[in-house]
Amino acid sequence: MRPALNPLVLSLKESATLAINLKALELRRQGKDIVHFGFGQSPFPVPEIIQQALRDNADKKDYLPTQGLPELCEAVAGFYRNEFGYDFKPLDVCVGPGSKELIFQIIYLMEGPLLIPVPSWVSYGPQAALRGKEIIPIPTSRENNYRLTPELLDRACYSAGQSQKLLIFNNPNNPTGALYHENEIKEIAEICRAYQVIVISDEIYAMIDFDQLPMSSLATFYPEGTIVSGGLSKSFAAGGYRLGVVLIPDSLELMMSALKSVVSETFSAVSAPVQYAALKAYRDFDEIRPFVEKTCDIYKYILSYLHTRFIGMGLNCPKPAGSFYLFPDFENFRKQLQERGIITSIALVDVLLGESSIAVLPGSDFYMPATSLGFRVAAVDFDGVRALETWPGVDYVTEEYFHTFFPKIEQGCECIKRFLRG
Ligand SMILES: Cc1ncc(COP(=O)(O)O)c(C=O)c1O
Repeated sequence: MRPALNPLVLSLKESATLAINLKALELRRQGKDIVHFGFGQSPFPVPEIIQQALRDNADKKDYLPTQGLPELCEAVAGFYRNEFGYDFKPLDVCVGPGSKELIFQIIYLMEGPLLIPVPSWVSYGPQAALRGKEIIPIPTSRENNYRLTPELLDRACYSAGQSQKLLIFNNPNNPTGALYHENEIKEIAEICRAYQVIVISDEIYAMIDFDQLPMSSLATFYPEGTIVSGGLSKSFAAGGYRLGVVLIPDSLELMMSALKSVVSETFSAVSAPVQYAALKAYRDFDEIRPFVEKTCDIYKYILSYLHTRFIGMGLNCPKPAGSFYLFPDFENFRKQLQERGIITSIALVDVLLGESSIAVLPGSDFYMPATSLGFRVAAVDFDGVRALETWPGVDYVTEEYFHTFFPKIEQGCECIKRFLRG
């Protein structure tokens, strides 16, 4: 039987990140020694107090309110107020099964095109496509470390015409590791205000910032038009718990009531025990803070190590300041690669996996041109439990220690070096 499918679905393929994960894991299962820099999942264990809260609440079986457990909404609003100074109330919070689903629902609710700075996370585009929404890419430049500037945003908003516009702004950034500074955010906020842009500020990597500076957000400088998304997946290391949140300001109240209706007609509510575990995470964040700080320290070291090695090999690569990603490219080797028949980022990552045993994602999955030679590295191929137990602090890492506890990070660099030698 050949079912007739919704044409909007036909153009979709499986999410690139999930697909590379399966491929790398299958190769490992076959006994291949693969460096897996493809999948952006925290390697650290879920903090024990969150696990305990999950166990303690295994008996919670009732459906919870659509918007989320009221105590959790209160704890989330409190967390964002204490940590980042945002002015959201408990009723501004909606809990969902991952911020990915909530971002999709907001894109689904909204009229008007979606502005996507390029490069950006792989799922925004397909989500907009599922809604039949026009996507307006905003190319950024490597020379400016792929940062969205007010000028670029201004131009894109002006060209988009009069209709309502939605901007997705991800900070700290996947794939580049960029972290925006307050002065940049203020200028971007002014442009958003001028064009009345509705912003989804995707802050799922909030708190993974290496200099532990106060996080700057459009939620502070453009509160009336900014929706914040976040969740347990990255800094709390609990991606598989599937719990995300959005915070929608009063001024967009209509959107919250529409979101509640869509949630009530789709997933109903997030699993009750997971919401109670999240309550512990957000309400008692001070107990988790040392964990988050230590993991940041580890990411900082690893990303700085990889950055130095990549630059040493002649790759271009903006220096990451947050998240756990790097976005290097082989542009300096374009001619040699062309002679080897590699002219697209897809061909590049295929050869990297097939010949050099390293899994990364192609730049084109992040909306870069097909012929860009950029790729994304998720620097998470290490044993997070052992790393946490043994971490001596950034200033005390020896070569021997690094070699023992982060062998795949070193091996990844060797794979790329070997690839460059042809
Ligand atoms: C930039 C970005 N936004 C959102 C998400 C979704 O996270 P979750 O659905 O686990 O909350 C991810 C996950 O990798 C991401 O990288």
